[in-house]
Order: sequence, then C-alpha cells, then structure tokens
Amino acid sequence: MSSELEAPVRFGTVIREFGPPKEVVAYESYKPQVPGPGQVRIRMLLACINPSDLVTISGAYGSRTSLPFVPGFEGVGVIESVGAGLSELRVGQRVLPLGSAGAWQDMKVTEERWCFPVPLDLTDQQAAMAYINPLTAWMMVRQYAPSPPAVVAVNAAASAIGQMIIRLLNRAGIQPIALIRRPDGERQLSDQLDLLAVVCTSEAGLRHKLSLLSGGRGLAVAWDAVGGTEGDDLVRSLAPGGTLVHYGLLSGIPLSYRLREECPEARIVLFRLRDWIHTTERHELQRALDDMFELVRDGTAASKVAAVFPLSEIRQALECEATPGRQGKVLLSMFNDMETTHFD
Ligand SMILES: NC(=O)c1ccc[n+]([C@@H]2O[C@H](COP(=O)([O-])OP(=O)(O)OC[C@H]3O[C@@H](n4cnc5c(N)ncnc54)[C@H](OP(=O)(O)O)[C@@H]3O)[C@@H](O)[C@H]2O)c1
Repeated sequence: MSSELEAPVRFGTVIREFGPPKEVVAYESYKPQVPGPGQVRIRMLLACINPSDLVTISGAYGSRTSLPFVPGFEGVGVIESVGAGLSELRVGQRVLPLGSAGAWQDMKVTEERWCFPVPLDLTDQQAAMAYINPLTAWMMVRQYAPSPPAVVAVNAAASAIGQMIIRLLNRAGIQPIALIRRPDGERQLSDQLDLLAVVCTSEAGLRHKLSLLSGGRGLAVAWDAVGGTEGDDLVRSLAPGGTLVHYGLLSGIPLSYRLREECPEARIVLFRLRDWIHTTERHELQRALDDMFELVRDGTAASKVAAVFPLSEIRQALECEATPGRQGKVLLSMFNDMETTHFD
C-alpha cells in the first residue's frame, strides 16, 4: 500500500465550468488520492475521447454532474496501489475502470468492483476502445435486430459505433442501409461492410430513397445517433410497428415531440448504456466484456485510431476530435513525452 507522502505529483485534466470542451478543459498537476478500503489506484495508460465525454463537459448532463470533475468515461490502466480489503485484483494488473468519469488523468482512484481485467493479448489501444461502443452496439443489435430479409438503416454510419452495428448486423445475415452525412463520406466506411445501399443524408429525398430501398414497405428498424430532422425522417420511414433505436444526439437537436402523434404505430426506444451498466451485476458485466474482447479480437467491434496525443496536448486532441470527416477515434496517452501520432 502507498502512503500519501510517497505519492508524486501527477497530471490530469479538470473541468471547473461547463462549456465548449476546448475552452473549459484545464491540464494541471494534482496529488492523487490514496486508495481507501475496497479501492484501487490505477496508472492510466490510454484513454479515449468519446461524444459522451464532450456532452458531459458541455453541461448537457449538468443535473447529474458536479463540478469540478475529471472527464473521460473510457480508458485502460494498470493497478498501481490497492486499499485495504481487496479481494480479487493485484498490483500490476491491467484493467478497464468502468462506471465513472476520470480516465483523462494519469492516476485514477476507483472502487475495485468497477475494475475489469484486460486479457494479455489485447493491445492498450484495443483495450482503450473495447467497452463503450462495442457493448452498446452489441446490446442494441442483440435486442432489436429483426430477422432477415427485413430492411434496416443505420445513420452516422461512418462513426465507430455505426460501423460496429453494421458488422454485427452482417453477422446476423442483414445488409443494412448506411446513412452518411457528407457526399464523400463513403470513403470513411470500411470496404468490408456488406451494405444494401449508402445514402447521403445531406442530399434531398431521404424518405423517398428509403421507401424505394425498402420496396415501399418501410424500415423494420433504424438505429439513430443523430436526432433532429434526420431522426424524425427515420421515424416517418418506418414500416407500421417498426422501431427507431435512438441512442445519440449528434445533431444536438431532440426528436420532434409531435412524432408520437404523427406516427402512432412507430416504436421509439431510447438506449443508454449507462442505464444497463449501473443496474447489472458484476459477473454479468464481466461476461459481457469477455464477449466484447472476443469481438474486438475478430475485428467486429474494432475501431480505427485517427491519432494519439499526449494528455498534455488535450486541446489539440479535442481539435482533432472535432475535425469533420475524421477517420477513427482520438486517443490520449498518459506518456507525456511521446510524440503525437496520426494514422492514415
Ligand atoms: N446511448 C449510448 O449508450 C451510446 C453509447 C456509445 C455511443 N453513443 C453515441 O453514438 C454516437 C457516435 O459515437 P462514436 O464514438 O461512434 O463517434 P465517432 O466515431 O467519434 O464519430 C462521430 C461521427 O458522427 C458523425 N457526425 C457528427 N455530427 C453529425 C451530425 N450532425 N449528423 C450526422 N453525423 C454526424 C461524424 O461524421 P463526419 O465524419 O461527417 O464528421 C462521425 O462519423 C454518439 O452520438 C454517441 O454519443 C451512445
């Protein structure tokens, strides 16, 4: 066990006021906590920048986020010290700390029960992206995918999770329609995806195109990470009794409140991974993560990496994250002497 006196100064990011991430994020030194009973201190290795981090920093979840806080819901690290009464984990073990923010710092103190060991054969990069998107995609496809040959659509299809949903649907024998927002967006899609069609949502006639592609029957299911008018049009494009799985708000605009009246036969479901994470037993989470590690290994739930920045360059990393057409996730490395690496 470490004592407070031994703990060297560490570095991390902190948010003291809500706002645009690049403007409100601070990179600072701090003295890490000593892990209490049942807690571990994790030396973070790599963390991911996800849309949910940016939304939290913006203040959209202000009612359940207290200031100040360290952002970052996803990352991988190594157990550096342990508190009293620890049962399973040991110093030196590589783990994913789930269930709370705080990955964008080089030491995170958290409860043992929220730490899950990472198999040795996964790289740090694979591990740092093995949780949020893979688990969300897998649960949403498992729960809502119809039987083939139903016609389905996935929007924000070039996103990391969009491509995972498509690969999982392909495994279930379904060829979805991929919706992308930019005319040249097809180049962001992996050429291994089996698609019925690619439709650009910034061009006119989305509903007409979806109707033609579904042979006039409408979509059985649509996965929506965008909301706004695009999400509304997906609801209007559903077959009677069809389902919209609404899991993201990339447009920043909610679905129209009139949809329930306008499309009474449509089923609109909201999916949030955190609802499941916080109501699920540890052994079940472990089982689901084991499945995710396997899907990451075989490529189904793998993500491309656009760039890795040292944590000290958090503002440049956030700028890269906000670049339209970015191909892959942006990662933060806690090895601050590393050079920024961009991948093609
Ligand atoms: N509900 C949950 O539990 C849960 C869990 C995981 C993820 N999600 C959601 O899934 C979404 C994607 O996450 P990710 O990590 O896969 O993202 P990502 O890989 O970082 O990619 C973001 C993508 O969104 C596209 N995009 C941005 N604004 C858009 C808009 N207004 N309309 C259409 N597309 C837009 C970008 O397109 P360009 O390439 O054109 O810039 C990019 O392809 C986010 O909304 C996230 O919150 C939800």
